[in-house]
Amino acid sequence: MKITFLGHAGFLIEGSKKIVIDPFLTGNPTAKNKPEDIIADLILVSHGHGDHFGDTLSIAKQSRGTVVSVHELAVFCSNKGANAHGMHIGGSHVFDGVKIKLTPAWHGSGYGEECPLEYLGTPCGFLLNLDGKTIYHSGDTGLFGDMELIGRLNSIDLAMIPIGDNYTMDPGDALEAVKMLKPGLVIPMHYNTFPLIEQDPLKFKSEVESNTTSKVAVIAPGDSLEF
Ligand code: NI
Ligand code: MN
Repeated sequence: MKITFLGHAGFLIEGSKKIVIDPFLTGNPTAKNKPEDIIADLILVSHGHGDHFGDTLSIAKQSRGTVVSVHELAVFCSNKGANAHGMHIGGSHVFDGVKIKLTPAWHGSGYGEECPLEYLGTPCGFLLNLDGKTIYHSGDTGLFGDMELIGRLNSIDLAMIPIGDNYTMDPGDALEAVKMLKPGLVIPMHYNTFPLIEQDPLKFKSEVESNTTSKVAVIAPGDSLEF
């Protein structure tokens, strides 16, 4: 399958199904892809923050794809005219051959800029089983010990985890996450989009590869890898 990094926490996964995660393109200073070019069967949204919810509604409508998230965010999208499927933390569902399970994430999920923010439920991460591969996208989160459980119960081929600090794990905590998740491959995310989350992903790569058996792929926004 092909994995394209859309920048920030956004990914397009193209296998037997097309899945987009956290498609923040409009207003993303690092994005190379345009929302009108993204067609996906499933649109996975980890939480309501604008840098993740992003272009979800326009992509869902032009694709006629299904938004998958926690119940509250799914209802919000349904009310805006998108197809949506609500789930919750710990639950899984098979969407035409793609199994998706929601995982916990320690973060917030307020939508929009006007106070009080509209709260779209709890944030989440995703475990996907697609074409025989297991992929984990943690969403925005701090380090938490149940990553050990996620790593023990799943043979993770690819993990996308944040390293940017301030809003999420920093590279040191992300290294601890890798030790618990034990993925074959790690793609760092949620860094260098804005000055506040500047990090050196190549330093993270060398730390992970010298302290664990996991490999790290640093991908520039708009670039892809075959996986
Ligand atoms: Ni966030
Ligand atoms: Mn974020």
